[in-house]
Amino acid sequence: SEIPLRERNIVLIGFMGVGKTTIGQLVAKKLYRDFIDVDQEIENRCNMPIPMIFEQMGEDYFRKVERELIVDLCTNTRLKIISLGGGAYLQEEVRNACLSHCIVFFLDLSWEYWKDRLPLIVNSRPLLKNKTLEEVEQLFFKRREAYSLHNSRVLTNELDPETAAEQIVESIK
Ligand code: S3P
Repeated sequence: SEIPLRERNIVLIGFMGVGKTTIGQLVAKKLYRDFIDVDQEIENRCNMPIPMIFEQMGEDYFRKVERELIVDLCTNTRLKIISLGGGAYLQEEVRNACLSHCIVFFLDLSWEYWKDRLPLIVNSRPLLKNKTLEEVEQLFFKRREAYSLHNSRVLTNELDPETAAEQIVESIK
């Protein structure tokens, strides 16, 4: 794409609950840039929390709003820090828009670390509700394949959010 590297949006991807929003806010602060949380943006547009969007409008509707919003952000904005919802990157159109206009970082966390966070996030994530731990584990590893394609990975296991953000900032200098 014709957007200079220094001006490209920085996009954070990864599984639910890895810290995309927390780390994204810190990266934005360090670079004096605006932060956009796509899930938050969808909630604002639909004027409903995400579990309610899934319940009342269905997942396909959610994915459509998500996809259109991300493609719009990728093609029409610069210099933003953007965190995607964990399922967004599974959509090919989203991947193509991100990879051609932005710099993408995959925030990774090992399953052993991640599973301790499950109780903290399960109630706000419709895709985790009513699933067994084995089912969640399957989803975790299936998703990871898509996240790993062509992206810089930041393994956050032993990193606090501040250090993870610093690594991202350093790696784009
Ligand atoms: C989803 C992840 C969530 C949110 C929605 C669906 C997913 O975002 O977009 O519940 O499919 O993985 P977070 O990754 O911020 O939890």
